[in-house]
Amino acid sequence: MFSLHILALLPFTSLVAAQTCTSLTIPVNVDTQASTITLSNPVNQAELTQLFIRNSIPSIPFPPTVVNGTHEVKAKYKIFGKLCTPKNVKPNGTLEFATHGIAFTHAYWEIGGNNSQYNYAQNAVASGHSIFYYDRLGNGASSTPDGIQEVQSSVQVEIAHALVQYLRQGKAGPTFGKVVGVGHSYGSILSLGITSKYPQDFDSVVLTGFAFGDFTGLFIAAGSFGATIASNAIPGLKLPSSYVAPGTPSNYQFGFLEYPFYDPAVAAAQFKIRGTATLGEFTTLADPIGPSTNFTGPVLVVAGAQDAFFCAGNCAEKVNGTTLPNLVSELYPVSSNFSSYSPANTGHGLNLHFSAPTTFSVIEKWIGA
Ligand SMILES: *[C@@H]1O[C@H](CO)[C@@H](O)[C@H](O)[C@H]1NC(C)=O
Ligand SMILES: *[C@@H]1O[C@H](CO)[C@@H](O)[C@H](O)[C@H]1NC(C)=O
Ligand SMILES: *[C@@H]1O[C@H](CO)[C@@H](O)[C@H](O)[C@H]1NC(C)=O
Ligand SMILES: *[C@@H]1O[C@H](CO)[C@@H](O)[C@H](O)[C@H]1NC(C)=O
Ligand SMILES: *[C@@H]1O[C@H](CO)[C@@H](O)[C@H](O)[C@H]1NC(C)=O
Ligand SMILES: *[C@@H]1O[C@H](CO)[C@@H](O)[C@H](O)[C@H]1NC(C)=O
Repeated sequence: MFSLHILALLPFTSLVAAQTCTSLTIPVNVDTQASTITLSNPVNQAELTQLFIRNSIPSIPFPPTVVNGTHEVKAKYKIFGKLCTPKNVKPNGTLEFATHGIAFTHAYWEIGGNNSQYNYAQNAVASGHSIFYYDRLGNGASSTPDGIQEVQSSVQVEIAHALVQYLRQGKAGPTFGKVVGVGHSYGSILSLGITSKYPQDFDSVVLTGFAFGDFTGLFIAAGSFGATIASNAIPGLKLPSSYVAPGTPSNYQFGFLEYPFYDPAVAAAQFKIRGTATLGEFTTLADPIGPSTNFTGPVLVVAGAQDAFFCAGNCAEKVNGTTLPNLVSELYPVSSNFSSYSPANTGHGLNLHFSAPTTFSVIEKWIGA
């Protein structure tokens, strides 16, 4: 009994002692093409809601109705992130580069704080990896430029690429020999964008909250999201009306949670600090989704069995003879190894569910040394 106790306690205490986290604000220069979107900041909530009604009509794809050509975005942004490493981190180790999705911030990777079973970052460090996780442009402590012409997928991909170079060159301190792209939802779409445009950036990728082959859920989500002008929805936020957030806890549950397989207090705390997304991002959301024809590294896809956005609530659905998470392999024709994992009783917001500790251990084992 006694030794069992010690065994149960030991990993817990060493978890706390073993990590070092540094907050970083990294300057990033971007020079890329973005879509020219023929919208202006909505004058009120009704105008914003009407845009999301249009975005929810499967027979009339929304982006082509508002995109008219491209323009150059040449800008300097500040990106806030945290680098957590094992104490006395060895040179040339493994770095996880984690990009959060819509309605979250960097805090998605540290849900519940230190010693919480929902804290992805701490778990990664306990597995011997370093991890960098950041606020996507437009969120948290990162820059918040024009939400229509600037905060878009192509710009986010360039920012992530620049951050990976920064970290690979050891500019944040430690050096890394292997960089693993880890995304959640829109963060997985952006990670896919990186493996397509910059196939050398990541040695392997873990795409969570992502699947391929049935995008019905994205149309449902455009409605169920309850898109609300962010500065009206979240106290203290002062942003243009092109920045939106899920309106109510019910909207949040619909998109991200599988009841009753999560702790309501943990979900409520995340809802309170929920992140934003812009009209520019919603319009260019799917742009990076396409074959990563040059990426040769291993790929792991992890989608909750009831994922609302990418599996329309059912990741066991088969298209062309295989499940939606497995269909992502079509986007990675030359990957050296493709695997998928679909935890039961889990919605789109994987890290919020009771299944999180098992999911984390599957991911960390897959990443390996
Ligand atoms: C969590 O642990 C890290 C690393 O030990 C530390 O830097 C941070 O301040 C802690 N956070 C809280 C909220 O205690
Ligand atoms: C699209 O852009 C072109 C060139 O800038 C402009 O002449 C045209 O009026 C625009 N069309 C719409 C529908 O805004
Ligand atoms: C650095 O790590 C990579 C990947 O783990 C490995 O291939 C390489 O040999 C290592 N280089 C050194 C100098 O240890
Ligand atoms: C992919 O590989 C092809 C053939 O080697 C090359 O022409 C192309 O530039 C590569 N694309 C990227 C984005 O690296
Ligand atoms: C299913 O297979 C057909 C025929 O090979 C192909 O055209 C289509 O793109 C596939 N669909 C998906 C979602 O993979
Ligand atoms: C692919 O990776 C999985 C998980 O790491 C492993 O179990 C499997 O053996 C690998 N398959 C091949 C063909 O290497």
